[in-house]
Amino acid sequence: MSEQPGVTEEQIAHAVVVLRAGKLVAFPTETVYGLGADASNVAAIRKVFAAKQRPADHPLIVHLADTTELKHWASVVPREAWLLAEAFWPGPLTMVLPRAAHVPGELTGGQSTIALRVPSHPVARRLLKAFGGAIAAPSANRFGRLSPTSADHVREELGDAVDYVLDGGDCPVGIESTIVAFRNSRAVVLRPGVVTAGQIAGVLQSEVLPPKASSPRVSGTLPSHYAPRTPLQVTSAERLEDSLRLESRNGPVAVLARRGRPRNTRAALWQVAPLDAAGYAHYLYFLLRRMDRAGCRLIIVEAVPDLPEWTAIRDRLMRASAEDVEEPAVATGT
Ligand code: TXA
Ligand code: MG
Repeated sequence: MSEQPGVTEEQIAHAVVVLRAGKLVAFPTETVYGLGADASNVAAIRKVFAAKQRPADHPLIVHLADTTELKHWASVVPREAWLLAEAFWPGPLTMVLPRAAHVPGELTGGQSTIALRVPSHPVARRLLKAFGGAIAAPSANRFGRLSPTSADHVREELGDAVDYVLDGGDCPVGIESTIVAFRNSRAVVLRPGVVTAGQIAGVLQSEVLPPKASSPRVSGTLPSHYAPRTPLQVTSAERLEDSLRLESRNGPVAVLARRGRPRNTRAALWQVAPLDAAGYAHYLYFLLRRMDRAGCRLIIVEAVPDLPEWTAIRDRLMRASAEDVEEPAVATGT
């Protein structure tokens, strides 16, 4: 992974010019890199969908410089949303709220709600402040692929489809933000992230609800999302050696383990992930990308602990291991 490069004022100013011209700027956030467009420019928003090859009914997240801008983009901001904003913004939390009347349907995939987030990454904050408006930005990857956590990953994913890349080094968190919606004054976690359901419940002093089967569509919740190209399977620590023995009969296998490489392992590539959840999340997509390039027929991942701070990581591993699924033809939700 790379050193944290400095982003100059000239680079921020250039990014602003590119955004104002209705073009696309990839920029670092604390979670993953975003593919940014002027959130008030419908033509620019359409370019984001084209660059990502993302279906038009998958809504984008709108990034704001400041919590006070919530009122401009949401028609209703419940007390619970202000409490979560105060506790977690700027930071890796996205809130889904009823959208204001002026919000273009292109931004929200035709839904009546909008996803909003105030990021904490210094480069994202400088860009938002200099731009003076909101920036719509999904993760800067092709649809259905791993989110990029470095500027090199963005270039690999999008090439010429992005007009300018601000290189702010590696993203500290490494996985996408927690997404929360509200139902009857209660929070619903639509996508787990490093802000946990327990932390949200603590701030709101009420239990967090599980998402309904018919929750608003979150493409990050389609089972096949965040997938490397190489098939991936999660195996318990106890069964790892057996699985490896069996699977490597049919070709080279890469392993993402939580312990050092054993002396006589059959693994073609053995990667050791950090033991703490924050470190694991930080390196996860970086390691999966490296393993994906290794020319193996399978990636075996050693299962991670069944503890709250690992929920988001378990979720991403589960999605990376899921077979491609047929998507529902009609966007569900409100
Ligand atoms: O950490 C992140 O959230 C990163 C950085 C760049 O901010 N962004 C990100 O964006 O992960 P994206 O588009 O890859 O994932 C955002 C998710 C999508 O799955 C989308 O469906 C969901 O947010 N979303 C957006 N608007 C929504 C809405 N109105 N209702 C439900 N889900 C929504
Ligand atoms: Mg994404």
